[in-house]
Amino acid sequence: MEKQVVKVGLMGFGTVGTGVVRIIQAHQEDLQKQTGLGIEVKKILVQNAEKGRALSSMSSSLTTDPSELLDDPDIDVIVEVIGGISPAKEYILRALEAGKHVVTANKDLMALHGAEILNKAQENGCDVFYEASVAGGIPILRALVEGFSSDRITKMMGIVNGTTNYILSKMSQEGADYAEVLKEAQELGYAEADPTSDVEGFDAARKMAILATLGFHSPLKLEDVDVKGISSVSKEDIAYGKQLGYDVKLMGLARRDGEAIEVSVQPTMIPKSHPLASVNGVFNAVYVYGEAVGETMFYGPGAGEMPTATAVVSDLVTVVKNMKLGVNGRGTVAPYKEKILKDDSQKLSKYFLRIVVADKRGVLAQITHLLADKNISLEQVIQQPYNNGEQAELIMVTHSSSKRDMDDVIAYLEQMDIISEVKSCYRVEGGDRL
Ligand code: HSE
Repeated sequence: MEKQVVKVGLMGFGTVGTGVVRIIQAHQEDLQKQTGLGIEVKKILVQNAEKGRALSSMSSSLTTDPSELLDDPDIDVIVEVIGGISPAKEYILRALEAGKHVVTANKDLMALHGAEILNKAQENGCDVFYEASVAGGIPILRALVEGFSSDRITKMMGIVNGTTNYILSKMSQEGADYAEVLKEAQELGYAEADPTSDVEGFDAARKMAILATLGFHSPLKLEDVDVKGISSVSKEDIAYGKQLGYDVKLMGLARRDGEAIEVSVQPTMIPKSHPLASVNGVFNAVYVYGEAVGETMFYGPGAGEMPTATAVVSDLVTVVKNMKLGVNGRGTVAPYKEKILKDDSQKLSKYFLRIVVADKRGVLAQITHLLADKNISLEQVIQQPYNNGEQAELIMVTHSSSKRDMDDVIAYLEQMDIISEVKSCYRVEGGDRL
């Protein structure tokens, strides 16, 4: 007899796992109408089966033994929301070898070992979907793979980390210091006790590697992403940025010119008029530029129980629809383009520079001379007295320059006697919207 109910093995019963069960229970009838099959969570892998759970109705399904899910022929799909590399990777590979489809929310795993997992899935005729791994409840991976399949994407800019967006938004709204806002974010539960992965940009880098791979059809890896976090962003940078018409965001940038690609995560100045500038607090957004469609932007919650769970269950719905049609494992398109990475001379952008200089005759001339030598011209300049007028602070926005030329200029500035300190240097993006 044909299968009437698809049985799911859920690995992890924390915040997202609980949301997954809630959505499957609450929308059972709609899900059945859409897929033609019932969906039932048969077993849930937990670390401690005795611990009290928000959904006590599931207590008889809990187990601490992964084999109860992986070796059960009745379980068709594994939903992995444990996170981290090990043991999630071993469990997923075992599941695929056993012919089970996989839905995962695991950005670490997909950014670092995505190719291995997807190859294993193809070998075994299985589906692997991972919508929840990037930007929580925003269906951006599906949009890239399906919605933009007929277009050629040339640029993606993502605010894909809620913690850092919360911190930078608060610093901007309240004129507050980084350390002060980070502490408050930790107290409110928006930032982890060890915030390194978020504030140093590593979490966002994983998400950008996944986005760029899908958007550009090229096998981009985590080590291909240039990463800089927000821990050195000061309230002065934000205030001067505002004065010049910019907001500071931790921006994931994936861009291709011809076939040459760059991917980075770094604090970036964007014009206040850019749609990404209005993305504040813990929200995420991904701006996608396609040659045919032009500008698009996807906005929403990047984390949280129910938003992330919708992404997971929607992937599950796709797996079940594929089961009904008998086409599992046939939809995945492996990256088919050669990976060509830009060198630093090809990475072009405007820059915001803040430096403290001696307030003496000819200083500005020496600096502009140095910039001119590197073909860098200035678009905006502010000069302010600094340190009771003994020095001056220079804030400059350049016209487009290469990263190589700008790095050379900074290395040179740092050695000049007239320069006390290069306080900050950020890319300025989004002015041309392309
Ligand atoms: N820590 C992430 C953030 C959420 O702050 O956006 C999970 O990816």
